[in-house]
Amino acid sequence: MSAALATFSFPTPTLVGPGTLSELGSRLAQLGSRRPLVVTDPGLLQTRAFQLLQRALGPAGPGQGWEIFSGVHPNPVEQDVIDAANAYRAKGCDAVIAFGGGSALDVGKACRLLIKRPELPLSRFDYNADWSGLAPCVCIPTTAGTGSEVGRSSVVTLPATQRKAVIFHPQLLARLVILDAELTADLPPKLTAATGLDALTHCIESFTSPSFHPLCDGIALEGIHLIVEALPRACRNGQDLDARTRMLVAAAMGAVAFQKDLGATHSLAHPLSSICGMHHGTANAVCLPHVMAWNAQRKPGLYRRVGLAAGLDVMKVPDSEADAQTIALIRGLLTELGLGDGLKAYGVKPAQFDALADQAFADACHQTNPVPVTREDLKALYQAAY
Ligand SMILES: [Fe+2]
Repeated sequence: MSAALATFSFPTPTLVGPGTLSELGSRLAQLGSRRPLVVTDPGLLQTRAFQLLQRALGPAGPGQGWEIFSGVHPNPVEQDVIDAANAYRAKGCDAVIAFGGGSALDVGKACRLLIKRPELPLSRFDYNADWSGLAPCVCIPTTAGTGSEVGRSSVVTLPATQRKAVIFHPQLLARLVILDAELTADLPPKLTAATGLDALTHCIESFTSPSFHPLCDGIALEGIHLIVEALPRACRNGQDLDARTRMLVAAAMGAVAFQKDLGATHSLAHPLSSICGMHHGTANAVCLPHVMAWNAQRKPGLYRRVGLAAGLDVMKVPDSEADAQTIALIRGLLTELGLGDGLKAYGVKPAQFDALADQAFADACHQTNPVPVTREDLKALYQAAY
């Protein structure tokens, strides 16, 4: 065990604001890049966000000073990472631009491992190998949710196990992040709400997890403050660039905060995606108030400061009242955003609860839940969320 009480690290340079994408060219030059590879998914090629990227890179298109790999799958597999690394080598690139949602960002970050060491597949990833000097990576998110742009890990499904592996290394950090709200302005309200709820869940779960990390706690509380105010605005009017900017920043803050830890909501959500195909943010949204109620029953007052951050006047009310008001606020937010339905509305079947509970219990996130949970507790939570 390390002698340090905790390790703090918040190092990614980040440009924030509508139009900041126009700085991409000069920033690439500063990084010494003359031929970057854009790593993205095929769906993005038809979007206005991609048009804006093309404009920033020079209107001549791929082959004229920049290249593209657009084969990233929604839940990325190792082959995506191999293909991106091969494209980088074949086209003589010198930097990666990871452009898209969490999947594209994760593949863009991870392909640099295979560029440096093509002989070492991700299934045999060696944390202690020399990973210095990876290709520089610029992360540009087109959703406000996962916060993968500021993360030090990539989630990739490995063919050998068919399970999602978390490849973690500090060298995976991007050299630059660009949070440009014009890139998220066309995201439909449903996806805006679901991804935003992922970010909110990151903030709430990291703040209430028990380990000592006051820096993350402060960031999580301000993230909650931003999301509760800005997410309804971003859903009502996608072109509200102020709300979009706040959501992009809050999503990055959520991911910075959850380097502390997550909790049982994420353990419940992961199998809802892998077994039932639910969107990760939606799965979190549906489970979150149930986990909060369950935790609050066993640790009264747990959510008082979450409520305060969300703007509730709960400083002086009894513990149970502070929790009840905070959970009611979250439920109200979910209803307002169209995420008020239970798991039943998403096609989840009670016959799946046992398999879901098995996988949720095997998931590591609940180990840092504020209250320890058993497999039976997780199954009961699925029933409650049904
Ligand atoms: Fe998440």
